[in-house]
Amino acid sequence: VSTAEAGPDTPTRVTVTSAGDPQYQVVVGTGLDAELPVMLGEQAVRVALVHPAALRARAAELEMTLAAAGYRPLVLEVPDAEAAKDLAVAARLWSQLGQDSFTRSDVVVTLGGGATTDLGGFVAATWLRGVRVVHLPTTLLAMVDAAIGGKTGIDTAEGKNLVGAFHPPAGVLCDLRSLASLPQADYVSGLAEVVKAGFIADPVILDLLESDPVGARSPAGPHTRELVERAIQVKARVVSADLREAGVREILNYGHTLGHAIEKVEQYRWRHGAAVSVGMVYAAALASAAGRLDETVVARHRSLLTALDLPITYRGDRWEALSAAMRVDKKTRGDSLRFIVLDRIGHPGVLSDPEPGWLTQAYAEVAR
Ligand SMILES: NC(=O)c1ccc[n+]([C@@H]2O[C@H](COP(=O)([O-])OP(=O)(O)OC[C@H]3O[C@@H](n4cnc5c(N)ncnc54)[C@H](O)[C@@H]3O)[C@@H](O)[C@H]2O)c1
Ligand SMILES: [Zn+2]
Repeated sequence: VSTAEAGPDTPTRVTVTSAGDPQYQVVVGTGLDAELPVMLGEQAVRVALVHPAALRARAAELEMTLAAAGYRPLVLEVPDAEAAKDLAVAARLWSQLGQDSFTRSDVVVTLGGGATTDLGGFVAATWLRGVRVVHLPTTLLAMVDAAIGGKTGIDTAEGKNLVGAFHPPAGVLCDLRSLASLPQADYVSGLAEVVKAGFIADPVILDLLESDPVGARSPAGPHTRELVERAIQVKARVVSADLREAGVREILNYGHTLGHAIEKVEQYRWRHGAAVSVGMVYAAALASAAGRLDETVVARHRSLLTALDLPITYRGDRWEALSAAMRVDKKTRGDSLRFIVLDRIGHPGVLSDPEPGWLTQAYAEVAR
């Protein structure tokens, strides 16, 4: 990963380089449409612009810009949020690309949150066995997480993200202006992944959030750009070291072992970031029970997440359901139950098959 230094109006560029794949840039700034042609590449003629209803006006604006620049835009509206990540929606997009004679040198552009980047990325990965995709993430979560790293996918009736492909983007443009219309609850949920990046790899993120947690809860806050850039750098460094699932990429799962179980038990009515928030407190308490992490770091998780309006407790009567869900989580390998834990801030490691006593002791710390 390399980062170009930038002033407040100059875009910041983070380069993602992973072995075996072309490198690409994640650009952060305001008003980045002029950057798009370079990412589309010289061969592009048709541009399929995949977006949900919430981004319709912005998609119409981009359609005009693209047409004025000589491209042939094809605007494809998809269902909102998780409903987009459905085989029937992907199949409709494949037909639309087919009817438009979309070729290998044409490009898919996604404009939306992680659901849109996952769906659009999957369609790009599968159309003609792979065409270019450029992501224009519009949620905090999609900017710092979903749009980077090349994971794409859709859901099936049996579970989330069960079908997908690794398909790194040709580029990612994070226009910070798009965060202004995001509902506050979605913004705060995305902050959980920013906090995660802080605990696993960049303590300056924690200091920035703690210096003004009320400001941090809104994209108008004083440190938004630096927080987004730092969280992107963490994700980019991790996926640059290791694109596929093995090895260091697993540290991005901090807080996610219990977090995914909470989402499942709640039948996905909880926001992802809220579940990960409780999951991080749990992982910290578990590391402390295992004698690996100082209690003051557990307390720092609680105070920061609470100040950001993220939850740190969950129902005390759900341990059996959660532990069953954790054992079937696809991210646990074989029969072992794996947690990413901290030995200290910025130093994550793996805890495999913790002693049952530690698991329940840590649960007592998040139970209410
Ligand atoms: N591929 C990956 O590596 C990866 C990583 C993390 C999460 N994900 C996936 O990301 C998805 C969640 O992403 P998300 O939290 O961005 O949710 P989302 O895509 O569902 O977006 C949240 C809501 O905000 C709306 N929205 C998006 N941008 C907006 C804007 N600028 N203004 C107003 N409304 C806007 C959306 O229409 C939606 O209703 C999940 O499906 C998850 O599996 C993927
Ligand atoms: Zn996550």
